[in-house]
Amino acid sequence: MKKNISWLIILLLVLSAVCCQCPKSDVERSVDRKWWKEAVVYQIYPRSFKDTDGDGVGDLKGIIEKLDYIKSLGIDVIWLNPIYSSPNDDNGYDISDYRNIMAEFGTMEDFDSLLAGMHDRGIKLVMDLVVNHSSDEHEWFRQSRSSRDNPYRDYYHWWSAEKGKPNYRWSFFDENSDAWRYDSTTNAYYLHYFSRKQPDLNWENPQVRQEVYAIMKFWLDKGIDGFRMDAFQFIAKDTTFPAFPEGFEKQVIKYYGMGPHIHDYLKEMHDSVLSKYDVLTVSEGAGSTFEDAHNLVDADRKELSMAYHFEGMDIWNNPENKDLLEFKKVYTRWDSAFADKGWLSIFLANHDVPRMVSKFGNDSPEFRAVSSKMLTTFILTMRGTSYYYNGDEIGMTNIGFDSIGDYRDVAALNEYQRLQRQGGNLDSLVERLKFISRDNCRTPFQWDTTANAGFTTGTPWIQVNPNYKTVNVAVEEGDPNSCLSYFRKMVKLRKESPVLVYGRYEIIDPENKQVYAYSRTLNDEKLLVVLNFSQDTVDFQLPEGMKAEEEISCNLETGGEFINGQITLKPYQASVYRLD
Ligand code: NOJ
Repeated sequence: MKKNISWLIILLLVLSAVCCQCPKSDVERSVDRKWWKEAVVYQIYPRSFKDTDGDGVGDLKGIIEKLDYIKSLGIDVIWLNPIYSSPNDDNGYDISDYRNIMAEFGTMEDFDSLLAGMHDRGIKLVMDLVVNHSSDEHEWFRQSRSSRDNPYRDYYHWWSAEKGKPNYRWSFFDENSDAWRYDSTTNAYYLHYFSRKQPDLNWENPQVRQEVYAIMKFWLDKGIDGFRMDAFQFIAKDTTFPAFPEGFEKQVIKYYGMGPHIHDYLKEMHDSVLSKYDVLTVSEGAGSTFEDAHNLVDADRKELSMAYHFEGMDIWNNPENKDLLEFKKVYTRWDSAFADKGWLSIFLANHDVPRMVSKFGNDSPEFRAVSSKMLTTFILTMRGTSYYYNGDEIGMTNIGFDSIGDYRDVAALNEYQRLQRQGGNLDSLVERLKFISRDNCRTPFQWDTTANAGFTTGTPWIQVNPNYKTVNVAVEEGDPNSCLSYFRKMVKLRKESPVLVYGRYEIIDPENKQVYAYSRTLNDEKLLVVLNFSQDTVDFQLPEGMKAEEEISCNLETGGEFINGQITLKPYQASVYRLD
């Protein structure tokens, strides 16, 4: 018997030695493969996705109903905006119970079915983790504000009024732009970087951190696959609250981001929670320098998986001024800074910004579909994890409400009130909101041509975009040239092409004001991506010695061939070629 066991051990040793010498694929040899690098993340805004009970608000059962559709897109991961109990001052980003489901969205049983349904289909789930702040209706805050010696007092940032007014802190959403709110119950101010109903949690208190880690474990043990960490760059604060220079809010990330002990907290979080699971973690915002971003995500630091920077979102906010050179510089700069280390997210929209096609493309009837497909090509051919916002796959556009009464977003409504009080120009604000308001991308998902775009049988919580009769899933399903069909095709191409995930990126003709072209190279494989960002027909010339061969994808029926390194690109043409 003993002899048999020894033989078995020898056999195992030999086998493992042989296996270690098995040739690795080119991809494995040259890159550090991770599932979350290869994933295409599809972001769902649950409030606007699909309503099944007729209350006008999307719900978890609605997402369950649409799981086969989601699977058909070919995506790997769903990022779900917050679904926890919330009084909805900021559509779920004000959480009153981190272990419960918002009543409008359903129940924990619904959540369990949703997660099982996703996993059955091979789709992973990333949840929003909103822990820079809670709701003022969270039990912690109710306790905290009730008396100065309450055990929860230090769960939040309080400033006793006897010390005078604390140094000014600007607030993103407050009607007075003031992040300190006086509370007479205990004659003290509390801090809220966002709305008054979103008091900031005190991460300097170890008990708060332990609470957060326990919440994370609760959801991870249910089987979720990661977290998108809301406003996370703001969690750590200098609690002496020193004065900031006047006008600091113009560089708010520099002053609020990456506070004193953020990396200690992240390491602690990694040791106590993240190291025990194979998850995707992404912090919203990446500080104000490349160094900040690297410090969050470089693999050897053992903090987070990938950075989600906002420089791309901060440009082109004036529709009259869309400078492609600026766009190219931003994405090229970030790619170069992460070429050897760290990992980025690539996206052109989310629930906080305008619709991708309205901002970066052209949402006129003539060019909406083609320019939307061009942007889809960009997201799915750049290095970094692709994030795609629900509705963009059918080319949904900004709604651009004419009246403030149509808006639902706390940011827009409070800004309006502030300006009204100051006697500011309200018409110009409404004009601006038409383009930049967050409500533009929160209108109901357009499923079909029936009432309310098939989103609800009730009254939708926010108006449906009137273009739903032509822009909807049902119409696009049957059309091989639709945005939807193109998105599926491009997701498939990315999944089949490690070069698009891991390949080196090199910009071509960086000074070209209409065309964004780049190559992607991995080992022997080299692809060329050519994107005409303009509504003009444009001649484009490859550099000497570069030879484009077979066209492997195009957002038109065909993009044509390069002849002597030259091609005439049609408006918003997006083509991918193999390079010699
Ligand atoms: C960022 C979220 O994306 C946004 O929707 C929210 O309003 C703020 N953080 C506050 O949580």
